[in-house]
Amino acid sequence: MNREGQDTGKHSALRGRMKADVAIAGGGLTGLSVALWLSRAGLRVALAEAETIGYGASGSCCGIVTPCRGLQYAAMETKLGAAVTDAYAHTHMKAIQAIVELCTRHGLNFSIREAPGMIVVEKDHANRLHEEAEAMKRAGLSAREEVLDPKLFARQKGLQISQVYVLDASAYLQALVTQAEATGVQIFERSRVTAVETDAVYTEGGSIQAPYIVIATGYPIVNTPGWYFIRLEQRSISLIQLTGARGPNAVFFSEDGSSACRVCGQNAVVQTSGCFVGYRKGFQEDPAAPAWAKRLGMRKTGSGTSGIETYTPDGLAYIGPYSSKTPDLFVGTGYGGNGLVGSMMAAQAISARILGLPSDGYEIYSPSRGINGLAMPLQLGTRYMKGMFGGAETPRCSHMGCRLVYNPVSRLWECPCHGSRFDGIGRVVNAPAIHAAQLRGRK
Ligand code: FES
Repeated sequence: MNREGQDTGKHSALRGRMKADVAIAGGGLTGLSVALWLSRAGLRVALAEAETIGYGASGSCCGIVTPCRGLQYAAMETKLGAAVTDAYAHTHMKAIQAIVELCTRHGLNFSIREAPGMIVVEKDHANRLHEEAEAMKRAGLSAREEVLDPKLFARQKGLQISQVYVLDASAYLQALVTQAEATGVQIFERSRVTAVETDAVYTEGGSIQAPYIVIATGYPIVNTPGWYFIRLEQRSISLIQLTGARGPNAVFFSEDGSSACRVCGQNAVVQTSGCFVGYRKGFQEDPAAPAWAKRLGMRKTGSGTSGIETYTPDGLAYIGPYSSKTPDLFVGTGYGGNGLVGSMMAAQAISARILGLPSDGYEIYSPSRGINGLAMPLQLGTRYMKGMFGGAETPRCSHMGCRLVYNPVSRLWECPCHGSRFDGIGRVVNAPAIHAAQLRGRK
């Protein structure tokens, strides 16, 4: 899949007013998963996608389903406590189980398979392996220290984790569409949501009135209430293809969680999380892909999609009511590069809330929780001030007016303030912007 999404040509744009039980803004993994879960429960669901299905971050997914992306459980236990860590593990495992069941038992016609998962740790940090394995075990996950092939990993050690699966992300997204439609979800493409109220979403061509609203646009598009703009950042993600003969079939994760390498036969794909969007120094290939290629004796054959992913200050997603004042307006975002699992957690948590089912640990993702320190808000504030007053000759972002930066690698205009991206003629590629940028004849 690429940034153009999956243009099935099947879904018309929203025209006129309609009513539903649930209106969803955004047709990526989150929007479709939530729609499917709620329509299966008998609710009438309507979904409005700005472009085509999978156009946004969902199109940059490399198909890894995992309970972790690096060494994170020991640190989480120290920072957030054992109860939160338990709930984190439990909700991730429940989502993984649901993805596997969805693929294998409900007629989704493509394969998902379990793959050996390995966190690769520099020998200097080997003491962290034992701590991580113990923290994962306390949270109910299986992990064990592993000796790696010294020909490939001369200076590293490994932590093998279970419950890692790989699938074809594009086929999975299409299967969600098929299932959602089979259960009655109404999908509208080329229907950008331009305004949201607590009982309606509005597009340029029409509106959906509904008692429950879900904002599944990647980065939330409503400024207040919620204030996501001081507690959520967007980072670039790229997929890079490798080929060669040495890599064993497995999924390897870097210890800091910033990259993952999925090896299958002679081919591999590296997913890297890079710098925040609009950061000039990040406009080059992340060194992670060449490092994996060298280590595994493979070579780069091409770059795939360039997407973005959202990150929260404490590493927990925001899933649930948009704010404490809006109990029937929901959001799912901040998955930190683990979008397949995060979107399924959003489906389970939001449907449980709407259907009045037990919360089952999802309260740890409450968007109304504290922001856990001032580091990210201060960083975002600084970026915003720089964005407002820097680069007098460059066009402004249609979201809150920051100066845009042209990224020659992605060939997109990027906003360093909250991470909106625009194509060469100013059309919105990624939220929170909802209106086109005025580029006035630039690239
Ligand atoms: Fe907020 Fe550009 S994304 S000002």
